[in-house]
Amino acid sequence: MSTAVDTLLRQKVQEGSLVESIDEMTEGYKRELTHIVTVSGDTELLSAPAYYYAARKAPSVNSMISALAIIQDELSHAHIAYRILEELGVDRDWLMYEREPHEFRYPYAFDIPLDSWVELCVANALYDQAGYTLLGDVFEHTSYGPWKRGLVKVSKEETFHLLHGRRWMKKIVDSGDEGKQLVQQAMDWMFPLTVEWFGLPDDLKTHTTQLEYRMKGLTNDQLRAGWMDEVIPFCCSIGLKLPVHRNGDDSAWELEYELPLRFDAAEKRWLWDEHIGWDQVVKRWKARGPRNEAMIEQIQRSRGDFSWMFKGL
Ligand SMILES: [Fe+2]
Ligand SMILES: [Fe+2]
Repeated sequence: MSTAVDTLLRQKVQEGSLVESIDEMTEGYKRELTHIVTVSGDTELLSAPAYYYAARKAPSVNSMISALAIIQDELSHAHIAYRILEELGVDRDWLMYEREPHEFRYPYAFDIPLDSWVELCVANALYDQAGYTLLGDVFEHTSYGPWKRGLVKVSKEETFHLLHGRRWMKKIVDSGDEGKQLVQQAMDWMFPLTVEWFGLPDDLKTHTTQLEYRMKGLTNDQLRAGWMDEVIPFCCSIGLKLPVHRNGDDSAWELEYELPLRFDAAEKRWLWDEHIGWDQVVKRWKARGPRNEAMIEQIQRSRGDFSWMFKGL
């Protein structure tokens, strides 16, 4: 495909045209779309084993069923993304079962174990809010018609997930000092990890092709700021402390620590005095964290040889 055709496509999508099928795409458009939808689908898929790990600690049958309902939603969100990838010519069996654990593309946060019900609820409030913010932007701005339509259902369900997290966080905080301390301890490692979720800061990110093709509409910093505007007022309203401040009701939230920082994954602890380079953060993301291999194994074992199940039937 010539460069002129690609330039024309970039112009058309900037003016609001939607792309509806593979025939209308250039190679560049298809490559970027495949990349961004893979990240989205993998994020949805991996949230299932990440949340399941903590759902086993649910305090009651009804709360367990709520957690499982969320996990079921996430699997259906992954299905929407993978169906789009199939239409782009990506093999679903390869996507699900043939990739190595480190080849899945999802936020590093899911690689850190959610060890308790409290941590699951904080994940719903922070991580699902991040998903909602990112997909809300895609829904509003994306130039790929089938993805835009698929996200109507996803956004509604993400709202349920994040409200589930908030309701439980408030309930646990209101239960007394011990509950409040548990929620605060989870926030202490999970808040900075979700700040990282949005990727490199804009001044370091040179890759703007996805914006040029209008796969999404906002930059990393804009999305991060949008997420902070949602979660911080809620957390403050229930008395949690966060390393942020702002200089007026309408001004942007500012972090009270300098990014990037070293993170001790085994201890789930930020080393506030150890400033590192973004290259080291990217290295940590790529190396993946403690739960990566186990989660992929849990997913891929469903493609087994099941003949043993039928013996004697
Ligand atoms: Fe989701
Ligand atoms: Fe979700």
